[in-house]
Amino acid sequence: MKKLTAAVIAGVLAAAALTGCGGSGSSSAASGSGTSAAGSAVESSAASEVSSAAGSSASSETGSAASEAGSVAESSAASEAAGSLTTVKDGVLTMGTNAYFPPYEYYEGEEVTGIDVEIARAIADKLGLTLEVEDMDFDAIITAVQGGKVDMGLAGMTVTPDRQENVNFSDSYATGVQVVIVKEDSEIATPDDLADGKKIGVQLGTTGDTYASDTPENGGYGEENVEKYSKGADAVMALVQGKVDAVIIDNEPAKSFVESNEGLKILETEYVNEDYAAAISKDNDGLLDAVNGALSELKADGTIQSILDKYISAN
Ligand code: ARG
Repeated sequence: MKKLTAAVIAGVLAAAALTGCGGSGSSSAASGSGTSAAGSAVESSAASEVSSAAGSSASSETGSAASEAGSVAESSAASEAAGSLTTVKDGVLTMGTNAYFPPYEYYEGEEVTGIDVEIARAIADKLGLTLEVEDMDFDAIITAVQGGKVDMGLAGMTVTPDRQENVNFSDSYATGVQVVIVKEDSEIATPDDLADGKKIGVQLGTTGDTYASDTPENGGYGEENVEKYSKGADAVMALVQGKVDAVIIDNEPAKSFVESNEGLKILETEYVNEDYAAAISKDNDGLLDAVNGALSELKADGTIQSILDKYISAN
């Protein structure tokens, strides 16, 4: 098993003990938990970040400052920063995602909805922009950000050093855990049991893919044992059909897939802990600062937490 962020494990174990979820998070959850207010969401001083967003001076040291500022000044600073923003389309914030990843992004009819879409819309609102969502293959998102096809990738995307070579990441807005899904009657009980030549399904280009495809010396299972699918749901279907022995994927989508397919379960041992953030072009520091400023305000006023709570049930 990998030990990338062992420090976080304790906290995540607690989170993983939560059952239920509901994954789909669909309309019934809509009015969910209401406002859980600032509570745990308050993390950093928005003031310091906003000043760097507005002034574009020093690159913002995210979440490091100490003081807690009032929100009025912050909002105006964030939208002031928006005045000088460059986006792909004037007045529009274009978000690239892969909309088969409930509850972060998924289709409800023709519409893409979910945690990331709501967070992106809240950011766009702060910046005086209209949100547009572009659905694409997950492994095309970084290229789309780099190539100026979309302004930001928001896709339950994990911050990794490899990706950081190609794009900048905003401050993190959520955490994820890679977990292993197996059939209910599987003999596989821990990630270590995958080592003896089991076939593992993943979504192409995800961290689950990267970890699983790595060499055994690096904690992986070897490329030859990994089947890559363009959607997570296709990997899960392959598991149901007995074409693979396990699927490695993020915990919240895993819960959602297990709920909508008979006879599957999630192993209790986590595989890797991760941070999700928005991917933004290295050529657009103005947008990076503005998104971080908006995120900081949305954390401080409880918006991010209440969006998460609406889709991820805590029981
Ligand atoms: N967290 C994983 C990664 O960054 C999986 C994300 C998949 N997201 C999606 N929208 N399909 O690689």
